[in-house]
Amino acid sequence: MFLRNYWYVAASDAEIGRSPLGRMILGEPIVLFRTEQGAPVAFEDRCAHRHLPLSMGKLVGDALQCHYHGLRFGVDGRCVRIPGQEHIPNGARVRTYPVVERYHWIWIWMGDPALADPATITDFHWLDDPKWGAKSSYLHVEANWQLVVDNLLDLTHLAFVHDSTIGNMALAEHAKVKVDRGPNSVVVTRWIIDQEAPPTFKKVGGFSGNVDRWQIVDFAPPAFLRLDVGATPTGTGAPEGKRVGGIGMRNLNAITPETETTSHYFWGQAHDFDINDPATTEKIFEQIRAAFLQDVEVFSAQQRNLKLFANPAQIDIAADAGVIAARRILGRLYDQERAAARVAAE
Ligand code: FES
Ligand SMILES: [Fe+2]
Repeated sequence: MFLRNYWYVAASDAEIGRSPLGRMILGEPIVLFRTEQGAPVAFEDRCAHRHLPLSMGKLVGDALQCHYHGLRFGVDGRCVRIPGQEHIPNGARVRTYPVVERYHWIWIWMGDPALADPATITDFHWLDDPKWGAKSSYLHVEANWQLVVDNLLDLTHLAFVHDSTIGNMALAEHAKVKVDRGPNSVVVTRWIIDQEAPPTFKKVGGFSGNVDRWQIVDFAPPAFLRLDVGATPTGTGAPEGKRVGGIGMRNLNAITPETETTSHYFWGQAHDFDINDPATTEKIFEQIRAAFLQDVEVFSAQQRNLKLFANPAQIDIAADAGVIAARRILGRLYDQERAAARVAAE
């Protein structure tokens, strides 16, 4: 199940340049490159002549030249040159996709181009805001994108999967949890009051005593999860809004389906303390990366079992409230897209 009329992250800004990059997104092969002026461009990764991936070709000026017989396609997807031939047939063009560069990411619109409004790109400003230190990265995941969404909406797993980094038992046993459901949003708020700080927080925040810790997970469809997390020394007023004397971070996640069973996982970590110290940014990033590699192991093992057991029955527990709310929204949006597509096709 894929939702098409959305902006997705296709690549990081540094991945796209003057060598074409081939990448599968929502099951569609795409090729990405930059013009001489630096503007990002996305085509279907298939030559209109004999179907060779255009990502095997090269750029000549702003035209992408196919590796097989040298047809060249301009930024609007139209063929601009056929070697040894004047006439360019009408159908000599490749599909183009709307793209926008924002927050150090290249965003692609996978649905009806007439609906592509850059104003609807989900806000990830923490990744390039001078008031925050930040670093982002990419993981390839051998699992369906919704397993990654589920993971980030139920943070009780930190107590088990991440007990060596960002988790401890207090997260699963002593959290006050609230789930706020909007028509197209879910916010899971978790407060863990007067508990020991987890290993990563001790390392980067220097906490010695107990802390009040918050985890506020904001879900926006199809697969954007922005986590507001942090801790302050216990009893200093963080639950009442006084977040001073501790650390605050944003864990930022944009998951792009590659196929039904694989995903592109773009993520970043931003912090509001020591923002101009690259060593702090790096230290936090490495801690979170270590945790995310633990998650990737979990997703792929889940996906293998889903295949081996052919979609087995499952049970729900109280901690699934956010997960269930998000899956409900995604199911409804999918049904709406399908209904609209049926009407358009009639
Ligand atoms: S397949 Fe691309 S030019 Fe022939
Ligand atoms: Fe995790």
